[in-house]
Amino acid sequence: MTRSHDDNIRQDVRNVLHPYTPLDKIAVTGPMVIRKGDGVYVEDDQGRRYLEGMSGLWCTALGFSEQRLVDAAIRQMRDLPYYQIFAGRSNEPSIELSERLLAMTRHLGMDKALYANSGSEANDAAVKVIWYYFNAVGKPEKKKLIARERGYHGVTVMTASLTGLAGNHADFDLPIGRVLRTGCPSAYHYAKPGETEAQLVDRLMDELEALIAREGADTIAAFFAEPVQGAGGVIVPPESYFPKLQALLKKHDILLVADEVITGFGRTGSMFGCDTYGIRPDLMTVAKALSSSYMPISATLMSSRIYEGLVEGSKRNGSFAHGVTYAGHPVASAVAVEALKIYEERDIAGQVRAVAPRFLRRLHALDAHPLVAGARGVGLIGAVELVRDKASRAPFDPASGVQARLADAVLEEGLITRSLRDTVALCPPLIITEPQIDEMFDKFERALETTLAFARSKAMVD
Ligand SMILES: Cc1ncc(COP(=O)(O)O)c(C=O)c1O
Repeated sequence: MTRSHDDNIRQDVRNVLHPYTPLDKIAVTGPMVIRKGDGVYVEDDQGRRYLEGMSGLWCTALGFSEQRLVDAAIRQMRDLPYYQIFAGRSNEPSIELSERLLAMTRHLGMDKALYANSGSEANDAAVKVIWYYFNAVGKPEKKKLIARERGYHGVTVMTASLTGLAGNHADFDLPIGRVLRTGCPSAYHYAKPGETEAQLVDRLMDELEALIAREGADTIAAFFAEPVQGAGGVIVPPESYFPKLQALLKKHDILLVADEVITGFGRTGSMFGCDTYGIRPDLMTVAKALSSSYMPISATLMSSRIYEGLVEGSKRNGSFAHGVTYAGHPVASAVAVEALKIYEERDIAGQVRAVAPRFLRRLHALDAHPLVAGARGVGLIGAVELVRDKASRAPFDPASGVQARLADAVLEEGLITRSLRDTVALCPPLIITEPQIDEMFDKFERALETTLAFARSKAMVD
């Protein structure tokens, strides 16, 4: 049965809490209800078609209609729709997935996989693994975690605490203890006047070194970092950032967790953000494109050093007492296996490298627009800032309605983007073609023109 749009809205606002939505307003306007997907496009319940410039939530690497993923799910549903991997059980799809996933990450030092359903759980599990590890190796005082301003690692109590965005803390009584905050390597947002990217990195490293000295390296367990910060505003790190960061962490025996929930599986033009930025992590978390998001699944990958610590802990405690019901879910695993096969067969990272120059050229060209500054991107992820004044980078007051006008204008053009404060992010499916990249930016440029006309009509810009 297909419901009318009005029925959908009535039902939905009565029943559901919508994430990241002003709950009072959504009850009045209702959400946009998406009904179908086709390649890089989706269609709403009123038949309007949109180019999905965000792959949902940085998710559907293979677009919205990859038949092989559908077939893999159906096959597995028929054979074995559920089985668990607790207490000495397993299932074949999860066995095959681990083989493939570790084969893809062994060069980064990964040796074992721990499964869950979401990026938040994968990062949450990473924290538990790290604490368990340091207890097992006789360093129980090494427990604090460093995370960055604008970092996004999820919404569980622990991962929302790692997340460096005020909105995720306010009134949730977060962050909880043990989290130390450090700076974000965005020259656009944080460089002092005249400071180069390299100088910003050096200042951040000095600040980090001072933080470590103040807290004591022997109390600090790990540093969490997305190779490219996503929800915090698509922050592409300066070249010297990760080499210097890693050297500093190594010196103080602080583990590095690479949160590859967005950057994993080709997004930056290499299979992992760790490859693009020369990162050699102790743990990695992956989700989203792991299954092209056709099924919920995530993994916490770890080096043999960490795993061996867990073995010691498990000996002491009688078992490794951690796991979620759907860990290694056979249907999610079967879909993920198929996604990984497709990434390899189609050389998805090579495909990203082939079209990224067009994406980045069109993205950087937006900087010429009177309302835009700060274009940045890598591979097929990018963002711009919406500004009232390019020279001072001053944003519009949200009460001006300009951000809202842009959001509406983008939809009117048949495009989906994501607004993160004054940042507008783009992260299309990795299967996007060059003509579709042009279509995406043409739509976005027309939406900017509509917004500029609105801002001028209100005398908010010249
Ligand atoms: C880098 C990063 N880590 C973790 C998460 C949390 O993942 P989930 O929403 O699946 O819990 C996200 C979600 O967007 C993310 O972007």
